[in-house]
Amino acid sequence: MIKELQQQVEQKIASIQWIQEPKGLYDPIDYVLSLGGKRIRPVLTLLACKLFSGDEKPALSAALAIEVFHNFTLLHDDVMDRADTRRGKPTVHKKWNDNTAILSGDAMLIKAYQLLQKVSSDKLPQLLQLFSQTAIEVCEGQQYDVDFENSLDVTLAQYVEMIRLKTAVLLAAALKMGALIGGATEQDADALYSYGINLGLAFQLRDDYLDSFGDAAVFGKKIGGDICCNKKTFLMITALQLAGEEDKKDLLRWMRCNDVSCFEQKVEAVLSIYKKLQIDTRCEEAIHNYFTKSVESLNNIQLSENKKDILVKFANDLMGRNS
Ligand code: IPE
Ligand code: IPE
Ligand code: MG
Ligand code: MG
Ligand code: MG
Repeated sequence: MIKELQQQVEQKIASIQWIQEPKGLYDPIDYVLSLGGKRIRPVLTLLACKLFSGDEKPALSAALAIEVFHNFTLLHDDVMDRADTRRGKPTVHKKWNDNTAILSGDAMLIKAYQLLQKVSSDKLPQLLQLFSQTAIEVCEGQQYDVDFENSLDVTLAQYVEMIRLKTAVLLAAALKMGALIGGATEQDADALYSYGINLGLAFQLRDDYLDSFGDAAVFGKKIGGDICCNKKTFLMITALQLAGEEDKKDLLRWMRCNDVSCFEQKVEAVLSIYKKLQIDTRCEEAIHNYFTKSVESLNNIQLSENKKDILVKFANDLMGRNS
């Protein structure tokens, strides 16, 4: 079922004429949306709607709105994170420039609202409210993420709150919007939101893990990007907590080294400390904990076990993802 929903998202994206004049504004939008990506969020919207109503189609515009919004955040995120590669291709600000990433990103945010407006449902005011609240929370999370680059005493609790905001709320809102369009009760929609938050936390932890331990060819992003930016990921925070005096001194020294010419060495050195402290295993354990919590949230939803199994399998597959 997931594959089918993914295909519907692809078809819908392909059916829209993204390119208009001026090309400088619209070409990058078409570029990023054509590069694929996993389409997790719109699939969750369609899936939620289908689970509650038997039909996913009423949620198609909302699903697309979510995916366009997500891609907008990526354009700006790649400027903020100085990232050159995404989905195995040059990022928009690399292929064009920062101004292009900013303005085409802005246009995508507006486009996302236009798509959401097309949803024909008496729930539209509620959907708009949820969407806007989510969008502002993503900005809050992104600001914490950037603030934390310059901080050395970020706690795991602060990290979890940061990733809840920058990543988890969007997955959760994608699910809740689909559920509401599908006629779910408020209570079921909220329980699904809670599943989405835990899924989203696990999802971002996996993203952090892959940023250090993934295969660039599959992941589509440069390995070590987070290390270069001094991101306070689960990996870095845990390493700072577990490191002995020497390793801690090394980690702190590498974080003061922000010259591109030393990045290769920096990534290698930090990764070797991560491996020595078995941070990868710690991260996998944390991912599993959030996976378990997400599955537990399903206990509060009035859906058949068969339907819940689809959500469990989805979460399970996402935990093991490599891209
Ligand atoms: C990347 O999201 C940004 C994060 C929140 C980690 P995805 O991993 O869903 O990116 P695509 O859309 O599949 O490329
Ligand atoms: C992304 O976090 C969160 C948002 C885009 C809102 P990351 O910065 O870790 O995402 P990637 O790794 O660049 O995809
Ligand atoms: Mg990034
Ligand atoms: Mg980022
Ligand atoms: Mg990342």
